[in-house]
Amino acid sequence: MIELRNVEKSYPVGAGRYYVLRRIEMQVHEGDFITIMGPSGAGKSTLLSIIGMLDGDWSGEYYFLDHPVHKLNVKQRAELNKKYIGFVFQQYHLLEGLTVAENLDIPLSYRNIKAADRQAIVADTLDRFHIVGKKDLFPSQLSGGQQQLVAVARAVIASPKVILADEPTGNLHSTQGKEIMELFKRLNEEGTTIIQVTHNENWAAYGNRIIHLVDGWITSPG
Ligand SMILES: Nc1ncnc2c1ncn2[C@@H]1O[C@H](COP(=O)(O)OP(=O)(O)OP(=O)(O)O)[C@@H](O)[C@H]1O
Ligand SMILES: [Mg+2]
Repeated sequence: MIELRNVEKSYPVGAGRYYVLRRIEMQVHEGDFITIMGPSGAGKSTLLSIIGMLDGDWSGEYYFLDHPVHKLNVKQRAELNKKYIGFVFQQYHLLEGLTVAENLDIPLSYRNIKAADRQAIVADTLDRFHIVGKKDLFPSQLSGGQQQLVAVARAVIASPKVILADEPTGNLHSTQGKEIMELFKRLNEEGTTIIQVTHNENWAAYGNRIIHLVDGWITSPG
C-alpha cells in the first residue's frame, strides 16, 4: 500500500547539499507492522513525515494506495493524510489553544461522524487512556508523558488505516509504554498498518519487520 522509489531529501549547505535521505526504496504492505531504527540524526523522523505526507519537499516516487503522492499538490496530500493516517509526532504537536478533549476531537471532525457520536468516542478514548481527569486541561498543563499519551490517543481515535508513530513511548513509564504497544498490536491484528520509530528493542519486537537507517541510507530493509 506504500511504495517509495529512490526517495531522497537534502538541504542546501554552502555550495553543496546535505543529504538526509539517500535512495530510499521501501515497500509496506497492508497489515504490516514495521519498525524503523537507527542513530540520532539518521533521518527517521524525516522519512516518517514524508510517508505521512506532511513534507512535500523531496525527490523520487511515492505511491500510497493508488495515489502517486509525488504528483500531488499540498492540498491533495493533506486530504490523504486526514483520510488515512494517524500520526504521533516525536514532539507531540498538540494544539496549545485547545483542551485535551478538543485535541482528540480534531481527527473525528475530518470524518463524517455525528457530533453526539464524536463526544461518545472522545469520552471512551479518554477513559481507555486513563486521562478522563485531564480532559479540560490545555497541553501546557500536562506532563511530558501525559502529552505523549494524548498524542497517541489522537492518532488512533479515528481508526486510521495507517498509524505512523515517532517514538510514541519515549516519555512513558515502561508499564505505560507496554500498554501502548499492546494497543498497537491489537490494532495491527485488526488490520491497521503501523510504522513506528523506536530505540527500544522490546518495542521493536512487536513489529514484523525492522528497517535500519544510518546516515540517511537503509542499511537493512528487514
Ligand atoms: N531544516 C534543516 N536544515 C538542515 N538539516 C536539517 C533540517 N532539518 C533536519 N535536518 C537534518 O536532518 C537529519 C535527520 O534528522 P531527523 O530528525 O530525521 O533524524 P532522526 O533520525 O529522527 O533523529 P532522532 O533519533 O534524534 O529523532 C539531521 O542531521 C538534521 O540535522
Ligand atoms: Mg526523530
